Amino acid sequence: MGAITMDNQFVAEETPAAGIGDRSAEFFSLRDIHAYYGESYIVQGVSFDIRKGEILALLGRNGAGKTSTLRTIARLDNPMLRSGEIWIEGKPVHAMKAYEAARAGIQLVPEDRRIIQGLTVEENLTLAQVAPGQGWALERIYEHFPRLAERRRQDGVTLSGGEQQMLAIARALAREIKLLLLDEPYEGLAPVIVEEIERILHEIKPLGITTIIVEQNAIAALRLSDRAVILDTGEVAFAGTAREVLDNAELRHEYLAI
Ligand SMILES: Nc1ncnc2c1ncn2[C@@H]1O[C@H](COP(=O)(O)OP(=O)(O)OP(=O)(O)O)[C@@H](O)[C@H]1O
Ligand SMILES: [Mg+2]
Repeated sequence: MGAITMDNQFVAEETPAAGIGDRSAEFFSLRDIHAYYGESYIVQGVSFDIRKGEILALLGRNGAGKTSTLRTIARLDNPMLRSGEIWIEGKPVHAMKAYEAARAGIQLVPEDRRIIQGLTVEENLTLAQVAPGQGWALERIYEHFPRLAERRRQDGVTLSGGEQQMLAIARALAREIKLLLLDEPYEGLAPVIVEEIERILHEIKPLGITTIIVEQNAIAALRLSDRAVILDTGEVAFAGTAREVLDNAELRHEYLAI
């Protein structure tokens, strides 16, 4: 059997395309991804890179394609990725199914949080740990989420909105995780709860977790982030540092209405 040929082919697929430059420093990259809901063309050639441990704010007006981009990265069925490449630590995410992307460490916390009804906080967390791979142990999670520790026996769906968001993030950490995708984590939460979630995200950053945060509250997302990408009708309108966006009133006004 052509083991060598297969091997060669494998190597060829895993090597970044020539001419793009050395991307080996990049932990994660999106290269010209195009994704569709049926015939509806939504993600129209998005590219960006993230280094390990960075937080990237993915911003843009309603309908700009932020959720669709996160869903594409997590390899959910919709929207469908038709072309482009997604790489995490040299592994081709574009060739993976959703469960494989999850095993590769990509964890999406969707806007609706998906807390499982009838399970306590702790059961929600231990269920996540059943998944293959090594996530955080309960003690470690409770250290960073003291509110969840206090409520470990409480039914997850009876938590406040902020606590449910914390549980959703904690559940992602309980799984094998490298890249955390947060879709509007601050939605509907009081400023004091937003600050608490920000504190948690600050705490996990030095632990080697890379995060993409989508937020309508762009200022809050930017003050947490190293870098920012602004989408406009499915395309990248700006990519740079979070500071640049905070300092550029024109840019904020044009694409973020702030
Ligand atoms: N399941 C779907 N089928 C068809 N079109 C969809 C579907 N989901 C989203 N879209 C369309 O894709 C475009 C991008 O939507 P997406 O949800 O990615 O935007 P968004 O930037 O997350 O917006 P918001 O800030 O409102 O959450 C929108 O025009 C939306 O109507
Ligand atoms: Mg959205």
